[in-house]
Amino acid sequence: MKRFLSILALMGIGITLSSQPAFATPVNEISKQQQQQMINVAHRGASGHAPENTMAAFQKGVDMKADYIEIDVQMTKDGELVLIHDTTVDRTTDGIGYVGDLTFEAIRQLDAGSWFHEEYAGEKVPTFDEVLDSFRGKTGILIELKAPELYPGIEEKVAVALIERNMHKPNNNKIIIQSFNHESMKKSKELLPEVPHGVLAGPSWANVTDEQLAEFASYADYFNPNMNIVTPELVDRVHEVGMMIFPYTSRSQEQANHLFDLNVDGIVSDFPEHVYYHPVHNQ
Ligand code: G3P
Ligand code: CA
Repeated sequence: MKRFLSILALMGIGITLSSQPAFATPVNEISKQQQQQMINVAHRGASGHAPENTMAAFQKGVDMKADYIEIDVQMTKDGELVLIHDTTVDRTTDGIGYVGDLTFEAIRQLDAGSWFHEEYAGEKVPTFDEVLDSFRGKTGILIELKAPELYPGIEEKVAVALIERNMHKPNNNKIIIQSFNHESMKKSKELLPEVPHGVLAGPSWANVTDEQLAEFASYADYFNPNMNIVTPELVDRVHEVGMMIFPYTSRSQEQANHLFDLNVDGIVSDFPEHVYYHPVHNQ
């Protein structure tokens, strides 16, 4: 028994007999075990540390060992896929206007870093192609189609970019496509049947029915809700229909811990370091 426990200890697995620790396994070894089971998604890159949806934030997510970087894809007036969250450039750049009204050349001249911190002055709005080429093989990419109803043909353009790089085969790359626009996801799944897709669900989906979950599961592999509507029962129901659940968006250690306790499959966080720590296992 002692030898068996020692082997488990070497593997970083702790077992408690009655209320006393069976051996002196460093408790942070247990949390490392737990972290390996929780998918760590850097929301808009490690956006708590660097300006969201910039190469700096994506690189930071990779440096912090996130399993995925999450990106928001939209389209310029002249058809270039760019990464930015809002449908206007107003909040996160020094420009103004709708993404879909601006040419790529105009968007590319904007400063997407100074609003966050002067250290990031000169960061550009990245293209989808740049991020695929820079980060493929280095991290997973959780691709959100943001407001695809504004950009007819965006699903096809995303599909072409992935197929050109042979990134549409599940064995080749960790790619997931998700959107709040569920019709867009149905269309994208038809274009890219081997790529996992996700349904995003805002607070209005708090009372999602079993029938709705089953319908989502017919084309999606993930049900990714606002974290405020996640309950243990919802997690179970999502799993029962064969999907996984990555709630968004954790912005504090307490929120990440709460999601750990709900047994979700992944945590979408601005701070990847929060997904590497769970205090219940550090007492
Ligand atoms: O990954 C889900 C999350 O990104 C959705 O919310 O508004 O940050 O794009 P939002
Ligand atoms: Ca997003």
